[in-house]
Amino acid sequence: MSDKLIYSGKAKDVFATDNDSELLIVYKDQATAFNGVRKEQIPGKGKLNCQISSYIFEYLIENGITTHLVKNVSDHEQLVLKTELIPVEVVLRNKIAGSFAKKFDLEAGKNLAKPIIEFYYKSDALNDPFINDDQIESLEIASGDELDYIKKQTLKINDLLVALFNKDDLDLVDFKLEFGRVDGQIILIDEFSPDNCRLWDKSTHQSLDKDVFRKDEADLVETYKKVLNRLEGAK
Ligand code: C5P
Repeated sequence: MSDKLIYSGKAKDVFATDNDSELLIVYKDQATAFNGVRKEQIPGKGKLNCQISSYIFEYLIENGITTHLVKNVSDHEQLVLKTELIPVEVVLRNKIAGSFAKKFDLEAGKNLAKPIIEFYYKSDALNDPFINDDQIESLEIASGDELDYIKKQTLKINDLLVALFNKDDLDLVDFKLEFGRVDGQIILIDEFSPDNCRLWDKSTHQSLDKDVFRKDEADLVETYKKVLNRLEGAK
């Protein structure tokens, strides 16, 4: 397998492979917050994120969601399909928290009357600004039909994941997804881990996600291990 680095992100590196239609994702032992302003090396984080994300993607695939995951090649590396990235971060919120609570000066924790989907334009230089449907269409980032499909898939993924985490006594507060195009189809890409979602323990309301790092509340690796253990049924 060739090892040409084609992209180095905050939490993952992406390499070309001998197969033109596949990429190798290597999860890094690095945590960042506040758009990379805070950056720390955290041994063991890459492996945990890869294991949690693989578990979630395999569950979604079993339940009819098409994703880029081909297979895991080690405990911190995945082979994935090469796609054309749609440069939009899709955020879904079930409860008030994070930037939404701040923006509207609301107390975190309340259930929303219905899930909210928000789009952010993927740009580190611009700090991922909010972007609406019309702006996405007019800038030809994605078509109206593609946006409809992305929203439907995001709601479907939410239903599946709320049910999954419920079984583990976790509330899925919010999360971020990314999508890519391949062979005329839109598929789920990137990762799903406590780095890009909020998970609260149903009884203690404790955060089991990257907020423990953002707020310096608890050890990140111990927290992510708890999530993996609950998913694997070893509560
Ligand atoms: O900060 P905010 O409340 O907007 O984040 C909503 C959700 O999206 C959180 O679960 C957060 O971890 C995730 N997110 C992300 N990457 C970003 C922004 C938000 O994974 N660049």
